[in-house]
Amino acid sequence: MNGLQLLGTGRCLPGRRVTNDDFARTLDTSDEWIAGRTGIRQRYFCAEGETAASLAVEAARRALEDAGLGPEKVGLCIVATFTADRNTPSLACQVHQALGLPETAFCLDVNAACTGFVAALETARCLLLGGQMAGPCALVLGAEKISGLLDFSDRSTCVLFGDGAAAAVVRLDPQAPWAAVFGARGDSRMLHGGGKEDPYLAMDGRGVFRFAVETVPVCIRAVLDKAGLTLDQVDQLVCHQANSRIIHSIAKKLGQDPARFYENMQRYGNTSAASIPLALDEMRRSGQLQAGQTVLCAGFGAGLTWGGVLLRA
Ligand code: COA
Repeated sequence: MNGLQLLGTGRCLPGRRVTNDDFARTLDTSDEWIAGRTGIRQRYFCAEGETAASLAVEAARRALEDAGLGPEKVGLCIVATFTADRNTPSLACQVHQALGLPETAFCLDVNAACTGFVAALETARCLLLGGQMAGPCALVLGAEKISGLLDFSDRSTCVLFGDGAAAAVVRLDPQAPWAAVFGARGDSRMLHGGGKEDPYLAMDGRGVFRFAVETVPVCIRAVLDKAGLTLDQVDQLVCHQANSRIIHSIAKKLGQDPARFYENMQRYGNTSAASIPLALDEMRRSGQLQAGQTVLCAGFGAGLTWGGVLLRA
């Protein structure tokens, strides 16, 4: 079916750990409120000198090391991000420079917000399948420095997000199952920020919650239908880590035990495009994700956008 095989993963979190109690010192909030509504207990923010690029480079380095591959095997590098440090060069080109990727490597960033990593995987698969890439492997990353877009006096938003980067090395596998489903509902009001007129992230939290719970179960079912698989035939389910209650509602709609869905937002908050590869890296390194397993990844978020793909570990 020409799906993607996961050869290695790596992650990099920045140095400043901020707990819910830390926020409660400066904001009218509490660990009880934040953890109860979202599952989040702490997140990491970039310290002085740390950037989306520095996190991305380190995550990519660790993923190549985990895959046991040198940079010469990389035919393309795609970084999913909506918080690159500057407009150009792309984060992918900064990874290219730092890791000494070949001149023949195709490098670009994609912005699909929290759906970014899933979108980047499908982009990588199509490019590899097209047969024009010079190397057999793709480095696919999610890297975000969301702290630069947070209004730290807005308790309804700033407690939800975190910075981080994670990377996956993938290659085509003719035996691996594949299906990809994407959608968008263009909406510049529900979740936005980073512009001249709206420098800080702002959102209609309840609206985004409803949107996610409505679209993601439908997306997951559509991925399974396309691949001719049932949920029981999928070994691991990894949704974007925005909110534990969103994941529980998705599980309920699918008639699944929520424990089947990986959760790590308690440690990292919502790291947008980095959240799914962060989960994959944790699962791989802890032994939860084993070679040969099938993973279904589903992202959703600003745009509004959503998407789901399969991956063979
Ligand atoms: N601490 C304490 N109280 C807070 C708070 C905080 N950090 N943030 C908001 N509140 C307050 C609100 O001001 C409001 O108070 P009021 O009733 O006096 O006006 C109250 O809590 C309820 O706010 P509401 O926004 O209705 O809460 P909620 O149950 O919808 O939870 C979210 C808010 C943001 C946690 C929830 O809507 C959510 O998770 N949405 C999805 C957001 C998301 O994941 N976005 C990214 C997707 S990629």
